[in-house]
Amino acid sequence: MNAIKQNSRILAIETSCDETSAAVVEDGRTILSNIIASQVDLHAQFGGVFPEVASRKHVEVIHAVVQQALEEAHMGLDDIDCIAVTRGPGLVGSLLVGVNMAKGLALARNKPFLGINHIEGHIYSLWLTEYVDEIEFPLLTLVVSGGHTELYLMTDHGQYQHLGGTLDDAAGEAFDKVGRVLGLPFPGGPAIDKLAPSGSATAFKFPRAVMEDGYNFSFSGLKTAVSRQIKHFNKTKLPVEDLAASFQTAVVEALVTKTERAASAYGVTAVHLAGGVSANRELRRTMTEQLSVPVRYPPPILCTDNAAMIGAAAHWHFVNGHRDALNLDVIPSLQLI
Ligand code: KG4
Ligand code: ZN
Repeated sequence: MNAIKQNSRILAIETSCDETSAAVVEDGRTILSNIIASQVDLHAQFGGVFPEVASRKHVEVIHAVVQQALEEAHMGLDDIDCIAVTRGPGLVGSLLVGVNMAKGLALARNKPFLGINHIEGHIYSLWLTEYVDEIEFPLLTLVVSGGHTELYLMTDHGQYQHLGGTLDDAAGEAFDKVGRVLGLPFPGGPAIDKLAPSGSATAFKFPRAVMEDGYNFSFSGLKTAVSRQIKHFNKTKLPVEDLAASFQTAVVEALVTKTERAASAYGVTAVHLAGGVSANRELRRTMTEQLSVPVRYPPPILCTDNAAMIGAAAHWHFVNGHRDALNLDVIPSLQLI
């Protein structure tokens, strides 16, 4: 499939959670624009994403975000070859806003239309990086986000084998829940990343939840262990930095152990990290130090939700002739394979 040479200019839309994003991506690798309107400040007051509020906000800003993406790319809709949009997994009300916008544009301008899996988008964020010409299959991709912790063996474009995933909470969910009990601002992931270097990673010994066999993860016990530890302290004297550092190290160790195990077993050329948690500095550093193959990750802006990654994934579908009908539905719990 690598041999297929076809140019594409894709307008991509992503509204699966709390970011309203639109991008124009050329040939699956060049970002001409990538507009991201984050609702994070809006949801901070609730300590998490409030689905109804999220979909309403998407409706408010989606037109302006799409327009800005086209303007920054110096393009009109006539210059676009395909309209792509995230169809799942995600929040149903949020997904519907992006999918309906994309359908409307595709119908009005008679353009090809593609519904893209959000996880596949995260995986393709690596094709938007400086590593693009070094990428060789088979690859191992660890997708770590607010909703997912999944290990995929990728043997070609669009060819995935699911090796393992979380049995309970996603890694990002654990970061956000622990952030909340530590009294940190939402979302907890970036806040813990920032605080942890000032604390001791060995102050508390939290469970690693590294099951002996397979490539699955479990983070709910770790979250409970942190909550239990906190009960020993008076709220005002909480050693937040030490708790953050010890928790972060436990998550990172579990992720590194399983990823290394899979990388060795499948003889991959490299390990790719993707998804919001792949912005975590300790995760990046430890993976790079401890893995026996090159470790690659996107810049932080392409780790968290964005439409450019949807455009990158859509390119491979587009050049392989895939097209979706305009009656395509959103699938909130869409699996990659
Ligand atoms: O990929 P993403 O934007 O949305 C989902 O598809 O879920 O990931 C968001 C998640 C949140 O849980 C957030 O706390 C986490 O990624 N995150 C981080 C960092 N930046 C974002 N977790 C740890 N360290 C970070 N630097
Ligand atoms: Zn995501």
